[in-house]
Amino acid sequence: MLRVDIRPISKKDIDALTAIEPGVAKRWVPRLEAQERGDYAFLVAWSFDAPVGRAILRWDSAYPDVRDRLGDFPEINGLVAEVRNEGVGTQLIAACERVAAEERAAQRLGISVAINNDSAMRLYRRRGFEPWDGGNVSAEWDERDDDGHIVKTHRELGVYLTKRLNRG
Ligand SMILES: CC(C)(COP(=O)(O)OP(=O)(O)OC[C@H]1O[C@@H](n2cnc3c(N)ncnc32)[C@H](O)[C@@H]1OP(=O)(O)O)[C@@H](O)C(=O)NCCC(=O)NCCS
Repeated sequence: MLRVDIRPISKKDIDALTAIEPGVAKRWVPRLEAQERGDYAFLVAWSFDAPVGRAILRWDSAYPDVRDRLGDFPEINGLVAEVRNEGVGTQLIAACERVAAEERAAQRLGISVAINNDSAMRLYRRRGFEPWDGGNVSAEWDERDDDGHIVKTHRELGVYLTKRLNRG
């Protein structure tokens, strides 16, 4: 397992990264701004000075159907492990669970996984996420270049999963 340090992105992290990977650092400035606006927490997994994974922890679901049926609770979006099968994804999910419980007193956490993403689905099921009974959700997200311009809009069908967070 690759032990990583996971923390919300900070200006200090972006400044340090600019010297090494200017493209990545620039792409993350809007994330920092959104985090500072209170839209979400942008959690980055660091191995020494290198970012090896990231997740957006939204404070409410991106999916109107989910909000309508289940109400407001945090949701993991854009989970990526740059280094695969070394436990980075698992540690990021655990960090999201912790931050959601500690900062929002959340009792539930959601995530959507593309219908054909079997390995991600296995990982979430193993961590206790279970599919909801509300049918597939339709996800849309923009891929952007280093200057923030949209290069492609992705659309995919997802299975929505939730996990109960036990506190105390
Ligand atoms: C999905 C994703 C985030 C998982 O991250 P990861 O860091 O590879 O996940 P982990 O290493 O924690 O666990 C994944 C697998 O590795 C195994 N694993 C965990 N630690 C391990 C270790 N030390 N050595 C070997 N295998 C390990 C797990 O058992 C799991 O096995 P599985 O194939 O049966 O599921 C990553 O594959 C990814 O970025 N995918 C592309 C983007 C994506 O699909 N994101 C999900 C959007 S919902």
